Amino acid sequence: MAYKVPRPADGTFLSCVIADYMTSEGHPPQNRKTGAIPWLAGKLYFLGDIMAARIIRKEVLIPGQTTKLVLDAPHVAAKAKPGNFVILRVHGKGERVPLTIADADPQQGTITLVYLVLGKSTWLLNQLEEGQELNDLCGPLGRPTHIEPGPEPVVCVGGGTGIAAMHHIAKGFSRAGHEVISVIGARAKDLLLFENELRTFSHDVLVATNDGSHGIKGFVTDALRDYLDAHKDVAEVVAVGPVPMMEAVANLTRPYGVKTTVSLNSIMIDGIGMCGACRVNVGGKIQFACVDGPEFDGHQVDFVELRERLSAYKPHELKSYQECGCSHG
Ligand SMILES: Cc1cc2nc3c(=O)[nH]c(=O)nc-3n(C[C@H](O)[C@H](O)[C@H](O)COP(=O)(O)OP(=O)(O)OC[C@H]3O[C@@H](n4cnc5c(N)ncnc54)[C@H](O)[C@@H]3O)c2cc1C
Ligand code: FES
Repeated sequence: MAYKVPRPADGTFLSCVIADYMTSEGHPPQNRKTGAIPWLAGKLYFLGDIMAARIIRKEVLIPGQTTKLVLDAPHVAAKAKPGNFVILRVHGKGERVPLTIADADPQQGTITLVYLVLGKSTWLLNQLEEGQELNDLCGPLGRPTHIEPGPEPVVCVGGGTGIAAMHHIAKGFSRAGHEVISVIGARAKDLLLFENELRTFSHDVLVATNDGSHGIKGFVTDALRDYLDAHKDVAEVVAVGPVPMMEAVANLTRPYGVKTTVSLNSIMIDGIGMCGACRVNVGGKIQFACVDGPEFDGHQVDFVELRERLSAYKPHELKSYQECGCSHG
């Protein structure tokens, strides 16, 4: 069923295919926090445009693991801000896959996504080639990163695939006049992403690899600790990456009293505040990562609960991956 949903922000209409949001009783699900039906309750500001998107460029960054896609998505590119994400479906009955916008070029009308091939949906996405289309792409979603004009130093920390997502945020701080120090880490040198891109605007790029093949031997937290010990003027630390990494960064910065923002990758379904799947506990309050975040105060996030919720569907995800005949080979 396709609904035309009025969008109060600019008075235009948004074609919104929401058949699979309908409950078994045949009515749209209510927001479990407010009890309201969101598109009647003023949440529409968070709805992005939904449309097909053609792959203009596909680049394998780490064979069998990480791929970069440049998509023709002018409506998303025109509005995308650092910290925003999209939700895409490879085919009409596919799962919704949230991916952070790693870069956007409003002039070219393109956005860049970087994804790790993890399970069924990212495997299916990885089967698409240049020139082919995604079934649908919705975005930009989520609240953008809060960026005040600079020049205070901001340290942006990225781990694994999170480096790509962090890249857009770091670029935003740099454009706002901040001195950006990028701290990136991976298991080994050939698993590092976006180092050259980050060097084009960062004041410094600090690298940590677990095996010491590039930069210091250790974790991003080791590089960050050294930096914070030597520099007392850091205004904010932003961390994007695996949950244990973001938790470790938040634990590290707490005694330094430095504002710390983390981008939470909780399980998302609709991405517009209706289903409640992405709820996280921040400072004892329930928040929905898709509309209240995905960025939150890292010192307030309940990481234990986040980890439990992220692993809740592991058996289903494994079954789905095995049944689809996917293979990373
Ligand atoms: C706001 C946000 C931004 C993200 N940005 C990126 C990104 O830029 N690059 C990237 O590689 N990954 C990103 N992710 C994670 C990405 O969405 C999952 O890796 C992807 O959905 C996995 O789907 P799958 O079917 O391939 O794997 P599955 O086997 O289904 O799941 C593997 C793991 O991926 C996670 N996952 C699965 N489904 C979802 C879902 N609907 N929402 C969130 N997490 C899920 C879970 O941790 C799960 O254990 C982001 C997630 C969120 C919420
Ligand atoms: S409320 Fe459904 S994904 Fe956030």
